[in-house]
Amino acid sequence: MLALITGASSGIGREFARMLANKGYSLIIVARRKEKLEELAKELGSEVRIITADLSRLDECVELHDKLKDEDIDIFINNAGFGVFGEFDKTPIEKELTMIKTNVVAMHVLCKLFLVDFKKRNKGRILNTASLAGLMPGGPLFASYYASKAYICSLTRGIYEELRREKSDVHVCALCPGPVSTEFEKVAKVSFAGFAADPVRIVRYAYKKLMKNKLIIVPTVIMKIPKPLCRFISDKAVLKVVYGIQNSKMR
Ligand SMILES: NC(=O)c1ccc[n+]([C@@H]2O[C@H](COP(=O)([O-])OP(=O)(O)OC[C@H]3O[C@@H](n4cnc5c(N)ncnc54)[C@H](OP(=O)(O)O)[C@@H]3O)[C@@H](O)[C@H]2O)c1
Repeated sequence: MLALITGASSGIGREFARMLANKGYSLIIVARRKEKLEELAKELGSEVRIITADLSRLDECVELHDKLKDEDIDIFINNAGFGVFGEFDKTPIEKELTMIKTNVVAMHVLCKLFLVDFKKRNKGRILNTASLAGLMPGGPLFASYYASKAYICSLTRGIYEELRREKSDVHVCALCPGPVSTEFEKVAKVSFAGFAADPVRIVRYAYKKLMKNKLIIVPTVIMKIPKPLCRFISDKAVLKVVYGIQNSKMR
């Protein structure tokens, strides 16, 4: 069994690596920070291949796929990403564009390239790490991040239905957690003030649902509440609540 994980140098990706290694998977782990990947490979001791890549660059996404297209990958955790926090007119455009290239373009490109391979073999599972943010009508103070995750949720839903109609044995899902205790806070310069889930629990739950071919995976009970609630509350009212929540994350 072989799993490919992007964004494996920390947080959710690293916990996926630990859990899947525990379950006997050989791993291909990807991120920019080689030393972090080496540390993890050493810790895991199982069969781990390291690939460093800056996935905000399209050429490096294509190169990654070129290297791996003949591998018999069972699970692809399409996970690398980050957030840019702040009022939309004040956040640096360059940083935001890099985020869009990572959270949207790289996820899209890698999902497509590996899906084509998986379909040829009629086997494989892809988990796209989106966010609860992607299920909300919008995210004041995190506007472009929410929009990037909404793209991933929508993309995944579309692909899911195509695969279902084809009765394919290839499966795709979107992981939509709320706040998780990772380096995300530091990178986005926000504070979850202790209201963050343990990534170990998140990946354990996600794996179970991934193996059951779920479409949208929302771990932790409390985070299951907002999505159905949104059906009964106007978008404008939800946006006010989201603003309050995001404002409380300001450092
Ligand atoms: N933590 C949360 O609250 C939360 C909630 C919902 C969804 N998510 C999503 O979960 C995913 C993982 O984030 P995390 O929470 O685990 O944060 P994290 O600890 O900061 O991990 C992010 C990972 O993405 C990698 N990455 C970022 N930019 C990259 C690039 N240009 N090229 C290659 N790799 C890149 C990082 O590796 P390098 O820096 O070594 O490249 C790191 O391994 C993200 O998509 C995030 O949006 C997080």
